[in-house]
Amino acid sequence: MRMVSFLIAYASWSGNTKEVTELIEQTLKDEKNTVATYRIGVGPIPDPRQYDAMLIGTFTWDHGSTPAEVKDFVADIGYKPDNVYVFGTGDTQFGGDDLFCLAAVKLARFYESRYAPLKIEQSPRGKQQQPIIDWAKGVYTHWKHLHA
Ligand SMILES: Cc1cc2nc3c(=O)[nH]c(=O)nc-3n(C[C@H](O)[C@H](O)[C@H](O)COP(=O)(O)O)c2cc1C
Repeated sequence: MRMVSFLIAYASWSGNTKEVTELIEQTLKDEKNTVATYRIGVGPIPDPRQYDAMLIGTFTWDHGSTPAEVKDFVADIGYKPDNVYVFGTGDTQFGGDDLFCLAAVKLARFYESRYAPLKIEQSPRGKQQQPIIDWAKGVYTHWKHLHA
């Protein structure tokens, strides 16, 4: 199996989504893939066409809203790439299960992602690390199946 190239574009203000990104990045690299990360809103926008697959990570804001910079990024990309995988962080204290990580859920729907979005409560440290690693390995497995 050849190396798969992943782009991880993520938005993070207080660092939770960034930490999840780093763990996903490390997991995909451990599986011998190449990974480029892009912090949404910082620097030139990458072209997803240069990668085999794109992951997007977002936190949720303001009653289930998608951060403005994530919406801008999606609009700037200008098309819906295949094989988009979505993960997010959130906090159930801001509106319970209905609003929890809703930005990630909405993005996955928008991209018609065929892999369930990952939802992480606040910081990924501790017992949430293993689900993140499992999800990232699942992304790679899913991609391989699609391209077998
Ligand atoms: C004003 C405010 C509103 C928020 N609203 C939601 C929400 O509706 N749903 C949710 O799941 N999390 C909500 N959160 C929690 C953040 O999404 C969560 O803290 C996230 O991990 C922050 O990501 P970051 O550290 O990458 O910036 C809210 C946080 C703040 C400060």
